[in-house]
Amino acid sequence: MLVLGLETSCDETGVALYDTGRGLVAQALHSQVDLHAVYGGVVPEIASRDHVRRLLPMVRQVLAEAGVARPDAIAYTAGPGLVGALLVAAGLANGLSLAWDCPVVAVHHMEGHLLAPLLEENAPAFPFLALLVSGGHSLLVDVRALGDYRILGSTLDDAVGEAFDKTAKLLGLGYPGGPALAALAESGDDAAFAFPRPMLHRPGFDFSFSGLKTAVMIEVRKLSADGRLAAVRADIAASFQRAAIDALIGRTLAAARHIGATRVVVAGGVGANECLRESLKAQFHGSVYYPRSTFCTDNGAMIALAGALRLDDATPAETIRATARWSLDSLAPPTAKAAND
Ligand code: KG4
Ligand code: ZN
Repeated sequence: MLVLGLETSCDETGVALYDTGRGLVAQALHSQVDLHAVYGGVVPEIASRDHVRRLLPMVRQVLAEAGVARPDAIAYTAGPGLVGALLVAAGLANGLSLAWDCPVVAVHHMEGHLLAPLLEENAPAFPFLALLVSGGHSLLVDVRALGDYRILGSTLDDAVGEAFDKTAKLLGLGYPGGPALAALAESGDDAAFAFPRPMLHRPGFDFSFSGLKTAVMIEVRKLSADGRLAAVRADIAASFQRAAIDALIGRTLAAARHIGATRVVVAGGVGANECLRESLKAQFHGSVYYPRSTFCTDNGAMIALAGALRLDDATPAETIRATARWSLDSLAPPTAKAAND
C-alpha cells in the first residue's frame, strides 16, 4: 500500500509517500521560517495562505518523483495545531480522496512525532518511553504499543521549544531561536551561570520552564544594564541549554526507572538538539533512539508513516477533521472498521 502523507499543522508544509513494503519512497518539505521571522513568531493567517500555495504543487512533485499517478490512501494531520493551517491539508486530503476514490486517515500530529524514529534503519521496538519535545509540547509518554499511550508527564507552563525560542529572542537571535541558540551555546561555558533546574527535586514527571526563562531574563536585563551582555551571550546560551537539558534528562531517567523502560525515544523539534541527544545517551543505561534531524521537526514522512500504520482506521472521505486541541492519550490502537463499512 502506498500512503500519501500531508502535514500543514504549523509553519512547515510536508508531503511524503510511504510504501508499506519498501518504506519511504519520496518526500518534499517547505519551511515558512523566512515568512514569519520578521514577526518573531508564526502568524496563523500567513501560515494557512502559504500552505495553500505550496501543498498541491508539492503533492504533484512527490508523485512525479515516485513515478506514480495516485496513492492507495491519504494520511493528513488532523490536529493538534493551528486550525486554519490544519484545514489546508484536511481539505485537500478529502478532496483528493473523492477524486481518486481512495480512503483517508486522520493522523494525530504528536503520534507522527512519536513514530518518526520508526522511519530509521535502527528502529525501536515497542514498548518504549518517548520524550516528545517541540515548540508546543513537552511530554513523557509510556508507549506500550501503537495507539496505547499513557502520558506520564507534561509541562505545567511553557513547552521546552518555546523556552528555547524565548531565550533566543532575549539574546537577540532570530526566529525560531532553538537551532540558533544551540549553535551559539557551542562556544559558551555551560557552568558560567547557575540557572535553576526546574522541578528536578519534585515528585512526578511534569516539566516547568517558566522559572528558568524568568531567571535568564533577569540575568540578561542586569547584564545589559551593565553593558556586559555582548561578552557573555554564548555563556548565557550554554548555561540555559544545560539547565533545560538537565531538567529534561532528570525527568526522563526518573520516568524510565518508574516504568522499567529499556528504550527511550526522543522526538519533536527539540529532539534535533545534539547536546540533548549526547547527554541522554551518556546518562541512560539502555538504548536511545531518535529520528534524523529533519524528521525531528515537522515533516510529511512521519504523517505518511503514521497513516500507513493506521490503515485499519482509514475511511472514505466524509468529515474534514481539524482539531486545535487533541490529547495524545485519547488515541486507541487501530481498529479494523475498514474503509467500506
Ligand atoms: O516539532 P516542531 O518542528 O514544531 C512543533 O510541533 O512545535 O518543533 C519546533 C521547535 C522550535 O521551538 C524550535 O526552536 C525547536 O523545536 N528546535 C530546537 C532545535 N531545533 C529545533 N531547539 C533546540 N535545539 C535545536 N537544535
Ligand atoms: Zn511538531
